[in-house]
Amino acid sequence: MNNSEQVAYFDHAATTPMVPEAIAVMAEELARTGNASSLHASGRGARRTVEEARELIAERFGARPSEVVFTSGGTEANNLAIKGLYWARRAQDPARNRIVFSSIEHHALLDPVTWLAKHEGAEIDMTPVDATGRILVDELRAGVERDPTTVSVVTTMWANNEMGTIQPVADVVRIAREHDIPVHSDAVQAAGYVPLDFGASQLDAMTITAHKLGGPVGVGALLIRRELEATPLLHGGGQERDLRSGTLSVPLIAAFAAAVDVTVARQAETVERIEGLRRRLVEGIVRVIPDAIINGDPEPGPDHRLPNIAHVTFPGCEGDAMLMLLDAQGIECSTGSACAAGVPQPSHVLLAMGYDDVAARGSLRFSLGHTSTEADVDRLLEALPAVHQRAQKASLVRGAS
Ligand SMILES: Cc1ncc(COP(=O)(O)O)c(C=O)c1O
Repeated sequence: MNNSEQVAYFDHAATTPMVPEAIAVMAEELARTGNASSLHASGRGARRTVEEARELIAERFGARPSEVVFTSGGTEANNLAIKGLYWARRAQDPARNRIVFSSIEHHALLDPVTWLAKHEGAEIDMTPVDATGRILVDELRAGVERDPTTVSVVTTMWANNEMGTIQPVADVVRIAREHDIPVHSDAVQAAGYVPLDFGASQLDAMTITAHKLGGPVGVGALLIRRELEATPLLHGGGQERDLRSGTLSVPLIAAFAAAVDVTVARQAETVERIEGLRRRLVEGIVRVIPDAIINGDPEPGPDHRLPNIAHVTFPGCEGDAMLMLLDAQGIECSTGSACAAGVPQPSHVLLAMGYDDVAARGSLRFSLGHTSTEADVDRLLEALPAVHQRAQKASLVRGAS
């Protein structure tokens, strides 16, 4: 029995199973030798595989092949985008030391930004969000226009990883472009669920990663316009336009392309199926737990929210307790909170949306994906009332002590 038969998996936003096509390509490539920088036949073969993968990924995401820079994943691509653009822009003009970004970014973006503030003299300008987790465009405009000549880079994620809320990327691009400021978007959660066209978006840089769309963990890409200057983080053999040195992993890159191929080709059909499963899930949750609150933007569609994420608050419960009780029954989901030194911390996304600590800690994220089934949803709905009751009791006992 494999993992997916034992477990009802609701954590596809953390990582989703590889599609069989990507596993097959990866296994085949693992059995081959060749450094894509070598000049002999094996090296040339490896190079061909990498370049075919690059062309496919570029084509599916509306980019030119030369705009695809392979990285070890979303975290590295975000670091390269934000640090690389900040350093390059500041080197051209030392007055450009401001970074405009949103309060709901993933830590893979938030932490490099705060690192630049701490160690590299960056001034950070955080854009607030509304109660659905969507950034307030007027606030972002005000932040930029406070003094556009001091901004080095603007960045807004495409879709939020906790709430699924889609961000007004086109409006953000327009504001940045008016002032000739490079603009980046972390599209890690959107890729595979929302149509993405890098060229049409007019973004300067965009992050994607393989393991959220059916590819392997450990590979991703920064799509970055060719003419844009960015300072590399890694120095070495000069691979990837001198922007990202290091021997390329041919099996990971080939499997990434195979996953993109399959996922984008099936996107419309998958989104429709998953939207239906999500509807079954949220309608079921409010039926079995009437005081549950479904967070984020209720409206479906690529301007509103991702089809695969349902974020739910269970008043009077600790999300962590519910997660562990569900896990004991083979049902896997996630809380929005990160654990710092063993103490659950409420998520910065929920706090930015105006939730208090208690509501933020009483929330769970259920995320669906290509292997999700109606049986998974029904299994969760069956387990939920008893789990909720136990978590509520535990919370009352803790509150009373
Ligand atoms: C929005 C977002 N950005 C970046 C990342 C990091 O990507 P990776 O795991 O490939 O480093 C994640 C992963 O959870 C994410 O959800």
